Parts: sequence; C-alpha cells; structure tokens
Amino acid sequence: MIVITGATGTLGQLVVEEALKVFPASEIGVSVRDTSKAAHLAAQGVSVREGDFKKPETLTTAFNGADQLVVISGNGQGDELVQAHNNVINAAKEAGVSRLLYTSQIGSSPASYFQPMVDHFKTEELLDQSGLNFVSLRHGFYSASGQFFFSIGIKDGALRLPKNGPINWTTHEDLAQGLVAILQDESFDQQLPVLTSARALTMEEIAQEYTQETLTRVVISDEEFYEQLNAIPNLPEEQKKCLLISSMQV
Ligand SMILES: NC(=O)c1ccc[n+]([C@@H]2O[C@H](COP(=O)([O-])OP(=O)(O)OC[C@H]3O[C@@H](n4cnc5c(N)ncnc54)[C@H](OP(=O)(O)O)[C@@H]3O)[C@@H](O)[C@H]2O)c1
Repeated sequence: MIVITGATGTLGQLVVEEALKVFPASEIGVSVRDTSKAAHLAAQGVSVREGDFKKPETLTTAFNGADQLVVISGNGQGDELVQAHNNVINAAKEAGVSRLLYTSQIGSSPASYFQPMVDHFKTEELLDQSGLNFVSLRHGFYSASGQFFFSIGIKDGALRLPKNGPINWTTHEDLAQGLVAILQDESFDQQLPVLTSARALTMEEIAQEYTQETLTRVVISDEEFYEQLNAIPNLPEEQKKCLLISSMQV
C-alpha cells in the first residue's frame, strides 16, 4: 500500500489524482488532518486515515500497512516544522515503511538565508540518520509562488519587483506526475533527485509569457517590496521575510 500525507493540500491532492491513474484505489491510503475533507477519496475506495505531524500518537496508525509513504512537507518554518517531520520519520520506522518519498526543495542547505531550505536540509539529515530507504525530491520553486509575485508586482503595464535572477519555476502538476513516476519505479536509485522545469526564466521573461504583454521592468528596493507585502492583510512576518529573500534568489 502507498500512503500519502497532505492529501487535502494543493500538491497532495494532485499526487493522489495521479496515483489513482496508475494504482488501484484499494492500494492507496491518505493521512490527513481533517478526514471530512477527504470524504470524496473514501468514496472512491481510498483508505482515509487521520494523521497530524504534530500529534505523533496519530501517525503510526495513519501509516499502518504502508510499503511506500509519500511525505508532503508540512506548512510553517523552523524547529517546530523539523520536529513535526521528525515525528513522521519515527512513525514511518515504527510502521515498517520500506520506502519513503519526501518533498524537499532545490537549494536545501544549512547555510541558506531562506528558512525552508534550512528546514529541508535538517529533515534530509534526519532521514539519513533514520536508516530508512528514502528519496528526497528536491522541487523547484513552485510556479504558484511566481504568480504571487506577479499579483503584487504587476501594475499599470509595469513589473515592479526587486532585482532577481533566473529561476526554474515548476508547476504542482508536473511535480505530482514526477513523484508518481518515482513511486511506480522502485528501482529508481537517486536519493536527492532535482525536479524542476527545464528552463530557468527571469521575472521579466516569465511575466511576459504569463501576461502576453511587454511590461516595463522597474527594479524596486527591498524596502519598497516590504511595504507592498505589509499592505497584504494577515501575511505572517516570517512569510514576508521568505518572500523578500526568495525574490533575491538566495
Ligand atoms: N518548492 C516550493 O516553491 C514550495 C513553495 C511553497 C511550499 N512548499 C512546500 O511544499 C509543501 C506542499 O505545497 P502545497 O502547495 O501543496 O501546500 P499546501 O496546499 O499548503 O499543502 C500543505 C499540506 O500539508 C499539510 N500539513 C500541514 N501541516 C501538517 C501537519 N501538522 N500534519 C499533517 N499535515 C500537515 C496540510 O494539511 P491540511 O490540508 O489539513 O491543511 C496540507 O495538506 C508545503 O507544505 C511546503 O512545505 C514548497
């Protein structure tokens, strides 16, 4: 059986959809925080289990019977998230999972200024120490995040964002397909594969493709960008810092 976490989130839903194309529903389980959000999957014959990374007592049952476990990295940042991932790793060992696929990010490093990359690195270290057979899929930056930059940066025919470099923006759909291809191929032997789009594009290039318009590029200061972020209601401070740093492509 394959158990997939985060199946009520954006990527996880797509992974389940892709998995259902190639595996029978009876071989798929999902581990989710709110089982009522996965009722449509239960109706298709998927085994729906309650699993919260922050409630270790839920996880061994949630992963019960899993030969392969897909761990969609959780939300949040820092030690709390790494601890939550550690709970998942411990439960996977206890449940006797024979192969674990974790969604990491390209640039995973202890020295990054971008907190998610430090968190992914620490999780990969824990996976390595666990003795589990694992594949850590190093995802490119999500195209959806690129679209967020456009939603605040494109105005009156201009693209107003800080200085940036080229990025391999990658769609959730492509990543879901790649993940399921690796699930199907148990002989796949790369431990840290990089999954990104083939072309790296600057904000200018991708904005032009996205809007089909020629935009005037205006490079704004970090301070001005921060002001734009401050105008967004309820955007957590840690996320503002992340967006500022990812706009610098550190
Ligand atoms: N590569 C990139 O550019 C990039 C960008 C953004 C995020 N990410 C990472 O990629 C992951 C997937 O992205 P996404 O777009 O699918 O995000 P998403 O829609 O927010 O999905 C995150 C999923 O993680 C689940 N989750 C969060 N905390 C959990 C916990 N304590 N226990 C169990 N499940 C938990 C959520 O459960 P609920 O459905 O119950 O909320 C949700 O299903 C993110 O969580 C983040 O780690 C990567």
